[in-house]
Order: sequence, then structure tokens, then C-alpha cells
Amino acid sequence: MHPSVLEVRDLRTHFVSDEGQALRAVDGISFSIPRGRTLALVGESGCGKSVTSYSILRLVQKPGRIVGGQVLLRPRQGGEIDLAALRDDDERLYDVRGGKVSMIFQEPMTALSPVHTIGDQIMEAILLHQPVGREAARRTGIDMLRKVGMSSPERRFDQFPHELSGGMRQRVVIAMSLVFRP
Ligand SMILES: Nc1ncnc2c1ncn2[C@@H]1O[C@H](COP(=O)(O)OP(=O)(O)OP(=O)(O)O)[C@@H](O)[C@H]1O
Ligand SMILES: [Mg+2]
Repeated sequence: MHPSVLEVRDLRTHFVSDEGQALRAVDGISFSIPRGRTLALVGESGCGKSVTSYSILRLVQKPGRIVGGQVLLRPRQGGEIDLAALRDDDERLYDVRGGKVSMIFQEPMTALSPVHTIGDQIMEAILLHQPVGREAARRTGIDMLRKVGMSSPERRFDQFPHELSGGMRQRVVIAMSLVFRP
């Protein structure tokens, strides 16, 4: 098996304004993530970390666009896929997002619905992907919250996002992204 699970080669993602000016948010980044290892991308605010991550999952919104490079994903099953080369509507992207690669978004309030309890939202994610009943999904969800360091997860499970601190909300989003075992 290839030693790296993800390899980004010379990735370039630009935002082009109506006047034709290109903002080179990501301009030739290359890195690879060895199987079973962790890679941290560190840099000053605005240097392009989020746009790099969005590019990997093909979530860059217009007027942003990947203008060059490769994003080679090498899952355990199936061959290598160049995510940068896929069309926006390629079905493989749905399989990759969440199932193989998961993103923890930077602003949890935009990722969480304000009108549903965090428990309902975590359970929905579980029920969507696993053939289990509501009671089992609840137990899995509470376990996941405990794993990511949430205090009193049983009580927190039935609370709404606005009742939680910023750090707790971030943990909820992390828990939701781990549910699919990406
Ligand atoms: N939708 C967009 N339209 C135009 N420019 C954008 C857009 N999103 C990001 N940018 C620009 O791309 C550059 C990289 O932004 P990015 O969000 O990747 O930074 P970051 O490294 O994640 O910063 P932070 O540490 O603050 O989260 C910035 O100059 C930003 O202004
Ligand atoms: Mg960012």
C-alpha cells in the first residue's frame, strides 16, 4: 500500500474578482500525510489553511476555483483518486465527504442548527450512516461526546447549541465528524 494516504501536489486555488483580479489564496502548496500519522498545517491568519482544506474536499465556492495541482487520495479500498480533477457533480465526492475525509468547520455555529438539540443532530448523523435504532444511536452519540472531552455528556445531549460554550460547540462538531469513522 502506498505510504501516504493523501498527497497534495502544487495545489493552486484562486479567487477571481469581477474585474479579473486573481487573489492567489493557495499558490503551489505540496504536502503528504503518511498513513496513520497526523499532519498539522500551521500559519498566520489568512495564509490559506482553510482554503487548502476546502479545496481537498472540493467545497471552494465561486468565485474561487482550483486552477492547478493534484489532490491524490489513496483510501484503503479502491484506487487512487485525484479529487482536484473530479467534476463538481461526480458521485465519488459524496462518498469521500464524511465517509472517507471529514472536515471540522471553523465556526461551529454555522455547522449546527440552532433549533435542534445537539443530541438530535448527532443522532441524525449516526442514523443516516448506520443501521441502528434510536436508542443505540443515542448511546453512540453520548459515548462520542465523552470521547471528545465533553463534560456531563448525558445532560448536554438534550441541550441546544446556544446553551453551550464555544469550546463545547466545537467538541460537538468534532464528535459529529468522527461518527462516520473517516
Ligand atoms: N470566499 C472568498 N472570496 C475571496 N477571498 C477569499 C475567500 N475565502 C478566503 N479568501 C481569501 O483567501 C485567503 C486565505 O484564507 P483562509 O480562510 O484560507 O485563511 P486561513 O489560513 O484559514 O486563516 P485563519 O487562520 O484566520 O482561519 C485570504 O486572503 C482570504 O481573504
Ligand atoms: Mg481558517
